[in-house]
Amino acid sequence: MNTVLIKGGRVITPEDDREADVLIRGDVITQVATGIQADADRVIDASGQYVLPGGVDPHTHMEMPFGGTTTCDDFTSGTVAAAFGGTTTIIDFCLQEHGQSFGDALRAWHKKIERCPPVIDVGFHLAVTDLDGGGGAEALAAVGGQGVSSLKLFMAYKGALMVDDETLFRTMQVAARTGALVMVHAENGGAIEVLITDAIAAGHTEPVWHGRTRPPETEAEATNRAIQLARIAGCRLYVVHVSCVPALDAVARARASGWEVWGETCTQYLFVDETALAEPEFEGAKYVFTPPPRTEHDQDALWAALADDRLSVVSSDHCAFRWQDQKAIGRDDFSKIPNGAPSIEHRLQMLHHHGVRTGKLSLSRLVELFSSEPARLFGLYPKKGAIAVGSDADLIVFDPERKETIRAAEHHSRVDYNLFEGATVVGAPEVVLSRGQVIIEGGALVGNAGRGEFLQRPVSSAAGSAAAQLVGR
Ligand code: URP
Ligand code: ZN
Ligand code: ZN
Repeated sequence: MNTVLIKGGRVITPEDDREADVLIRGDVITQVATGIQADADRVIDASGQYVLPGGVDPHTHMEMPFGGTTTCDDFTSGTVAAAFGGTTTIIDFCLQEHGQSFGDALRAWHKKIERCPPVIDVGFHLAVTDLDGGGGAEALAAVGGQGVSSLKLFMAYKGALMVDDETLFRTMQVAARTGALVMVHAENGGAIEVLITDAIAAGHTEPVWHGRTRPPETEAEATNRAIQLARIAGCRLYVVHVSCVPALDAVARARASGWEVWGETCTQYLFVDETALAEPEFEGAKYVFTPPPRTEHDQDALWAALADDRLSVVSSDHCAFRWQDQKAIGRDDFSKIPNGAPSIEHRLQMLHHHGVRTGKLSLSRLVELFSSEPARLFGLYPKKGAIAVGSDADLIVFDPERKETIRAAEHHSRVDYNLFEGATVVGAPEVVLSRGQVIIEGGALVGNAGRGEFLQRPVSSAAGSAAAQLVGR
C-alpha cells in the first residue's frame, strides 16, 4: 500500500493550527502527530509550509449548455484547473432539461464524466427545472438514492432555467421530507426580464447594462422569498452566490433567528466590482456573470460576513465561456452574452493573499470557507474537508511565501481570459494530493485524468432538523 509522510508542516484545520506530521496509507490519513517515524514510500518535507485540507468547491458548471453555447471546460480540463489551485473535490450542477426524467438528467451528467474523466473527485447536485416532467415529487425524492443530496432551483433566467414559486415550494417540501439541501439562485427573474426588455428597447446594448438590469433589490427580494418559503416547507436552504448587502442581510437575519439557512459568495464578488462591466471594446463582457459584480461597499460587507459566519462558503461558480467567440454572441445585445465567469483555479490564492495576509480572515477560517464547511453542508465531512485519521488524504502543501502573477497565458482552464489578470499574489500550492496520490507537484500535473471518483453523498447529519423544528407549529 502506498505510504506518504508529510513532515514538519503547519497543519491547519478550522479547529487547529499546529506543527505536525501527516501519515497517509493508501487513500486515507492514518496518523497526525509530531515526530512520526514511519517507513514511507515518499516523504514530503513541508517545513515552512502549510498543510491544508484540499478545497471543496460546491459550485461549478462543467460542459454545461447555457445561453446558446456550452461552457468551455469539461470535467477533465476543469478539474485539472481546480487541482492546480488546491481544489480536490467539486460538486457540479446536473441540469435537468424540460421534460427530461431526473434519472435521465443524472445519466447524462455521468456520461460527461465518463467521456472527459476528472482528475479529482466529483459530486453532483440536481438542478430541477421541471418537477412534473422529471417524474414528480416521488421521483425527485428518489434521487437521494443515487448519491445526490442537494437540489438546486433557479429563480432567474426566465424562459430557460427559471422555475415558478409552486415548483420551488414543492421541491422544498420534498427536501424537507428527505433531508436534501435546497440551493437557490435567488434573483427575481420576472422583474429582471422586464428591465432587460426596457433597456434593449431604449437602445442600451452594452455589457454595463447587464448590471443595471439586475439591481440588488431583485436579489434581495428573491433571497427573502426563498428563505420564507423554506421556512414554511421546513427545509434547509443554501443561497448560492450572495453578492450584495440587502441579500446578505436577509441571510444574516435568518441565521440570527437560528434558521437553517446558509449563504455562499464567490471569489469574483470579492474582487471584481461593477466598474469592470463598463470596460471598453467589449472587455466588460468578461465580467458578465450573475448576479452581476456590485460595489466596493458590497465587497467590504461580504468580507466582514465571511469573517463572522453570516456567510459560510466561498465557491468559484466556475462557468467558463471564451471571450473571443462565446461571450461575443452578445456583442450587439448584452442579454445574449452567456452568463458566467471562470475562477476555479485561483480561489485559494486570492483568498489567502487578500484575506489572510491582510488580516481579514484567520488561516483556520480560510480553511473552513474553502474546504471544511462546504464538505459539512454537502454531506462529505469528515471524508473531505478534514485532516484527521480516516479522512481522505486530500491535502495541499502550501508555500505561504511563493509569489505568482496570475495570467490567462499560464492558467489551466480552456478559457481565453482570466478574471484576475495581472494580479500578483503571495502564497501558492506546492504539492496537491488527492486520496493519497500526488496530483500536482512543482507546477506540473502528475495525476491522471480518470483517477477522480464520483462521490455518493449522503444527506448531511443535520438533515431533517429544520423540518423537525416546524412539526407541531
Ligand atoms: O453567471 C453565472 N453565475 N452563471 C452560471 C449559472 C449560475 O447562475 O450559477
Ligand atoms: Zn446562479
Ligand atoms: Zn452557478
